[in-house]
Amino acid sequence: MAQISIDGVTKRYGATEVLKRLDLSVAEGEFMVLLGPSGCGKTTLLRMIAGLETPSTGRIMIGGTDVTLTPPAKRDVGMVFQSYALYPHMTVRENIALGLKLRGVTPTEIASRIERVAALVQIAPYLERKPKALSGGQRQRVALARVIAREPSVSLMDEPLSNIDAQLRTVMRAELLRIHRKTGMTTIYVTHDQEEAMGLGDRITVMNFGHVEQIGTPDEIYAHPANAFVARFIGAPRMNLIRLAHRPGANAIEAAGIRAPVPATLGTLPPDLFLGFRGEEARPGAAHDGEAMIEGVVDVVEHLGAQIEVHLRLDDGEEAVFRRPRGETIWREGERASLAIPAAHLHLFNAETGAALRA
Ligand SMILES: Nc1ncnc2c1ncn2[C@@H]1O[C@H](COP(=O)(O)OP(=O)(O)O)[C@@H](O)[C@H]1O
Ligand SMILES: [Mg+2]
Repeated sequence: MAQISIDGVTKRYGATEVLKRLDLSVAEGEFMVLLGPSGCGKTTLLRMIAGLETPSTGRIMIGGTDVTLTPPAKRDVGMVFQSYALYPHMTVRENIALGLKLRGVTPTEIASRIERVAALVQIAPYLERKPKALSGGQRQRVALARVIAREPSVSLMDEPLSNIDAQLRTVMRAELLRIHRKTGMTTIYVTHDQEEAMGLGDRITVMNFGHVEQIGTPDEIYAHPANAFVARFIGAPRMNLIRLAHRPGANAIEAAGIRAPVPATLGTLPPDLFLGFRGEEARPGAAHDGEAMIEGVVDVVEHLGAQIEVHLRLDDGEEAVFRRPRGETIWREGERASLAIPAAHLHLFNAETGAALRA
């Protein structure tokens, strides 16, 4: 198992800078998720760690060794590609065995490893089949088995669950975590799905346009987003961000249907702000001292099973979304409602730079 460190890595294709002086450190045995919108450079970064691409500048260390220019086969890294990349003319058993043969593992040892991983990812009944006779989820597990059987010190996974239907994805997610707990492989897992990232990661690296927006545990990123981009990206429904003008010196920010206290500890605020709050932190009713008040007309109520999602239209036309327990009867479309948000759950961002304002 190995520690990974990415130091100031830049990747350029011609004039396009796809990764910009990126720093990232993954602890031994950690499950690190790279999360970001499509095109932000996640696959490129993974391919550089695997050795399939070379950084334009910067250094990649695995287990304390500089591998920046080391060929893939000498890195002790296994990669699960989004496309699975199974050999169609080989059986599942042969697909798993191939990488082991190439690395000189003995036939007895290969047989015993295949038996072990097949049980782990539940593909034992399919070992003699060819990939075309498997479902997407089964192929996915074979791709996973192939990496686990190799026992690399680092495993890299590029959106491995994206082609699997929603129900099996939830099952596979739990399975991935169980496998990780059992093997302790240092894992870097790429996804554009924030819910998957929150569920899997020991820590999450949020990426955007080739740079890192924030690195932290799922809870840190959810509770203390470093900027408006992360605030919008994490959580479902996403954080409400309401743009407000702030009068210098005022001890509260006010707009149509909103009044929020400003902690004195924040110092001088910029004139152009986002007020952020999560719909699940608000409670119906009047605001007490130190709380924020949000008021508007109930626009739409969506019934989502255990919860309802309430869309509130504020007086200036902006919308705020709240998650409430099912059965809460106060929400009638077209009626006025007001909610209170405790100060601890209020977020302020500089609307110009996006940076979170913290005491
Ligand atoms: N070989 C390449 N040549 C030129 N541009 C590339 C190449 N590979 C990736 N890119 C560009 O780099 C950016 C990041 O791509 P990628 O790492 O695949 O993003 P992600 O995996 O986050 O969706 C994209 O804009 C993509 O078009
Ligand atoms: Mg990708």
